[in-house]
Amino acid sequence: MLLLNPRRTRTNMKLLQLVWIFLLTLCGQSGVTAITVKEDDDVILDCSFGSTNIEKKAFAWKKDVDQSNEEVFWYSGGDTDPGPEFKGRVSHFPDQLRFGNASIKITKAKTSDSGTYTCYHASVQKEIKSTISLTVDPILKPRPEIKGAAPRPIVTVDKTKDEVLLT
Ligand SMILES: *[C@@H]1O[C@H](CO)[C@@H](O)[C@H](O)[C@H]1NC(C)=O
Repeated sequence: MLLLNPRRTRTNMKLLQLVWIFLLTLCGQSGVTAITVKEDDDVILDCSFGSTNIEKKAFAWKKDVDQSNEEVFWYSGGDTDPGPEFKGRVSHFPDQLRFGNASIKITKAKTSDSGTYTCYHASVQKEIKSTISLTVDPILKPRPEIKGAAPRPIVTVDKTKDEVLLT
């Protein structure tokens, strides 16, 4: 009985601890920040260029770089351009640029906004400044856009002599 041997169990626990510490260290090094918000909430994705004034520089945000490589936001010396999926929902902080702040705000997050966002210096080297893993949790709300789903919960009560049926 492998699992019931107390000495084995202790060794396994130690091993598990080591693996855990190793994983935590790896996560720390890759510098991915995990954020979870509720659907329809606003979310700020942080990115900093240290104390460099970036008003005249170029930076970009992309989503899921390995897969869809979706444009989220683009800034170049005062010009901005939102990605098609984010038109009207993404903004930056113009008065913060001189402090090196390249953060963006996504308003009314959708569940489909979940994914990995990368902020990088849009120069030749494409130096990555920040990586954020965003999870948008669905909330309970009417979803008329989904076919076959009731726009809102419908409960009918059928009463007979000695029972009640909730549908
Ligand atoms: C950038 O500015 C926004 C808005 O003031 C703020 O919420 C955010 O924390 C700032 N981020 C950094 C990296 O300074």
